[in-house]
Parts: sequence; structure tokens; C-alpha cells
Amino acid sequence: MASVPPHATSTSNATTPDTLPAWRALKRHADVQKTVHLKTLFKQDPQRFETFTRRIAGLTLDLSKQRWNQETLNLLLALAEEAKVPEEIDALLSGQRVNTSEDRPALHTALRLPMEASLTVDGEDVVAGVHESLAQMERLVERLHAGQWRGATGKPIKDVVNLGVGGSDLGPLMVTHALADFRPLEVHPVEVHFASTMDGSQLADYLSRLNPETTLFVLSSKSFTTIDTLSNANTARDWLLARLTRHGATPISAELVVRQHFIGVSACPEKMSEWGIAPAHQLRFWEWVGGRYSLWGTIGLPIALVVGVAHFRALLAGAHAMDRHFQSAPLADNLPVMLALAGIWNVNFLDIRAHSILPYDGRLEYFAAYLEQLEMESNGKSVTRHGQAIDYSTCPVLWGQLGPNAQHAFYQLLHQGTQPVECDFIAPLKRYDEVTDPETHRHLKAQHKLSLANCFAQSRVLMLGDDAIDDDGPRPAHKRYRGNQPSSTVLLDQLTPATLGALIALYEHKVFVQAVIWDINPFDQWGVELGKKIATDTQKILDHEGSLAPMDASTRGLIEAFWACEKGG
Ligand code: F6P
Repeated sequence: MASVPPHATSTSNATTPDTLPAWRALKRHADVQKTVHLKTLFKQDPQRFETFTRRIAGLTLDLSKQRWNQETLNLLLALAEEAKVPEEIDALLSGQRVNTSEDRPALHTALRLPMEASLTVDGEDVVAGVHESLAQMERLVERLHAGQWRGATGKPIKDVVNLGVGGSDLGPLMVTHALADFRPLEVHPVEVHFASTMDGSQLADYLSRLNPETTLFVLSSKSFTTIDTLSNANTARDWLLARLTRHGATPISAELVVRQHFIGVSACPEKMSEWGIAPAHQLRFWEWVGGRYSLWGTIGLPIALVVGVAHFRALLAGAHAMDRHFQSAPLADNLPVMLALAGIWNVNFLDIRAHSILPYDGRLEYFAAYLEQLEMESNGKSVTRHGQAIDYSTCPVLWGQLGPNAQHAFYQLLHQGTQPVECDFIAPLKRYDEVTDPETHRHLKAQHKLSLANCFAQSRVLMLGDDAIDDDGPRPAHKRYRGNQPSSTVLLDQLTPATLGALIALYEHKVFVQAVIWDINPFDQWGVELGKKIATDTQKILDHEGSLAPMDASTRGLIEAFWACEKGG
């Protein structure tokens, strides 16, 4: 373990970022810059694209449509230096205890280190352990792909349902969807599904149509205490037991059913054993991997099942390429740092506190949902790492949708609403090369071009407003566009496991850099705990096991409505 991280040495009177010289200079600079429209910035500097675009690992990041100039960037880079971003990047990647409130490292980057690398944390070489656990996961995947994993009645598994929520769901869901084109053709087909909701509605749908004899459940939960996941798991177990133990002439033991139909993935092996997961079917990971940063290890089992082991490794390699870049590139050329600084400029100096994620590729359907957790659960904080209340803004409200669909839904607000919004446009440059039928290939290529045209057009209109068209004749107010909405565009050479890995790592590191500048810990999530406790108490009251008296009038009314409904049958 390396020495104490730079931030942990401070006292509770530590300097907050808004007192740093560069922050103050940025405030003064923003007073002027706020009044400058993006169209003016483009007129002033026709080379903006070259000035503000960076490229690495198959990604091109265009930050020229941000409402900044070279002076802004110089001040932001000074802020990053004053906030000790370079030192904190080293602290993160070398395994220091950057998760201060839980006193542990945040080593998701170790999950994608190549086998020959070495990283010692608390006297343990984590790389060897990481590769052992990957190898164990890959053996399970290969058995399933070979049709050698048989259910309790002897039939090969055909459907795998991942039961998990938050980081144990969103990452694997997003990546399996994004990389569905990369399914290995030669393997025994295994369909992968996801059920996360605690109300059981997604699970109920699967249970109504899947065959219990050929269905395997992956119980994914870092803590193995999450009620959402455990209640789905209990329902699934009872469904299997009711259908399989009395199957055919020879009785099948409950133990065999649970053994053959459940894999557990968790950082708590003893809890997996207690629940009944067979030790050979337990995949482990470490407390030092945060839930929303965990898709790179055994939580990624559904990904490896869909895309195969080689493509899973390519995803890791793409992320590792971004890690190396993050570690070594100067701040001004560092993609995650630059993306983070654009966000800081918008949130803290231009007062833009809404951020929309807009991928122009149907395969990235779940990317916005994934980023919502990554960014808001990490940086939705209002206390510094030293326990001081914060009086500057931190994480903006983030939401998104596939860009082309959002054009027909909420772009109206982006173009003519009253809220300033930062947008991220994401698109692959190349698509459909693998389509062999010439006619379909021609059509789909044209559709891809159509999508890119819309992507480029939308960011342009958001930037220029009415100036995006030549015939800017007189128009009534309701047909006018003011523009000046800032955006970033990320172009992927094409969407592959490697570029997707790099893209996700880009955002992970962006979140980290912003957290460093805001002086918050992005690796804990204490804000979700109280709700869990109150829900447990409320559940008791719903079951008539607690008193309604201390409840507020609204909650009492809602509970009584439920009781009335229950009574009425
Ligand atoms: O309650 C929030 C949270 O802890 C997330 O951080 C996490 O990704 C999710 O719940 C699921 O947690 P677990 O993997 O422990 O079930």
C-alpha cells in the first residue's frame, strides 16, 4: 500500500475549491464570458475544432461547442493543478485509500490491468487475484457456451436471468445491449435477461415464459443484502423448487436445484453460502470495487456470456488504454480531464446544472441510464471529504435517451425552453460493415448517415440557434431559436468492445476528476441508506407490526389507502 493520499492529510478547516486562486479568477472571467454567445466564439476562432478536439483509443472528443475559449481552459487547467488532480490520479491508480469514508481504495482500474502488470495493495498482489477470478468466470462461461451446464433435470441451460440492481444490473445491461452484434456464432446459444425491480414485474414476465429446467439465475449483489435482488432471488428459487423437485418419477432434491440453477456474484462469500449458493458457483470480487464501477470483473458475467470471453477481454483492454492515457497524458491533452473541466465550467461558472446524454446509436439505448447512476450516485454530494458543508454546486441533474428518439420528445425544451442544458452527443463514425446482404447494407448505411446528419445538425442548432440557417428572415417569437446551449461530441471510430471500454472509462475518470475538484468522495453513497431503513420500518407497518401513530399525515393516508384496498381484496 502506498502512502496516505494527498487529500486525507487535511484537517476539517481544509481549503474548499471555491477559495482557490484559479476558482476566483474563473468567477471573474465568467462574468465576461457568460455574455458571449457560442456563435461569436466560432466567428472569432475558425480553428476551434482543432483547438478543442482530442483523440485517443478510437475516440474523438470535440469540445469546441463548449462556451469557453483558450483563456477559460488555461484557468480551468490551473484549477485542476491547484486542486491536485495529477496527485489524485496517481493516488487512485496506485491503490491509495481514496474512498475515505469507507477507508478503502477504489480499484476498478485494477480489474482491467493486463496479467503481466503488478499492483500491491495491503501486501496482496491484486492483479493475480483479479486474473484468477476472471479465469473462474470464464470457465463458467465456457461451460455454458459448450452446452455443458445442465439444469437439475439434465437439460442444458438456455436462458440466464441476471438478478441485480444498480451497479449489479445497469453496467452489464448497457454493455450486453451495446455489444449484441459481437455474439460469438459458434457457441451453444444462451439468452441473457435482466430483472432488477423489487416489485417483481420483470421477473414475473420471465417466469411466465421461461422453462425452469433450462433457466439459470445469476444472483448479482456486491453486498448480498440488497432487498430488491434478494426478493427476486427468493421468488425465483421458489418457482424452481415448485416446478423441479416434483418433476418426473424420481424426486429431485432442493439442494440440487439450487446448485444447478444459481450462480452467485458478490464480495461476501459467507452470505452467498448462507443463501445456498454452492461454493463452486460463487464468483467473488472485492470490497475495493464500487458497485457502479464493477462491470469489469465478475459482475460482468452476463457480458462475457453474450459477447464471449475474447470480446470481454477486448472491452477490458479498451478501458485499460484509457486508464494509461489518463495516467500519463498532460492535463491539457487528457480526455477525461478535459471532459471534466467542461462540466465544471458549466456547473460552477455558467450556472448550467442540467446535463443530457444523447447517443445516436440504438445499441447505446441504456448508456444514459448507466451514466445517471455513475455520475449522480458518485457526485451527488454536498459535504467535502473533510466533512464540511458545500456551498457550491456539484453534480448536475443528468438524464438522457437515444438522441433520435429524444428529438421527438424533449428536444423542444433543449431548443426553446428556459433551462440552459449541457448535452453530450455520442455516435460511431462507421456502422453496418458486417451486413452481407447488399440491398439491406445499402439501406442501413443510408440510415446510419441519416442518424449522423441529425446528430451533427442538432448540436449545431443548439449552438447557433437561428444562425444555423441562411434565410434568417423575420419570424414570430415562437419560431425563434436562441442557441448557445453548449455540447460535447464523442465520436467512436466504430462501436466495438475496445471503444466501448474506452468510452466507459472516459466517463468514470471524468467523474473522478470532477469529484477531486469539488473535494468530494465519489466512491460512497450514504445518501441511499436512510431510505432503505425507513422502507424496512414502513414494511412492518404495512404488515400491521408497527404503530401508525408517529407517521406524518400523508404517509398515514397512503398506508390506510393500502390497508383499505387489502381488506377489500
Ligand atoms: O443502494 C445503492 C446501491 O448500493 C448501489 O450503489 C449499488 O450498485 C446497488 O445498490 C446494488 O448493490 P448490491 O450490488 O450490493 O446489491
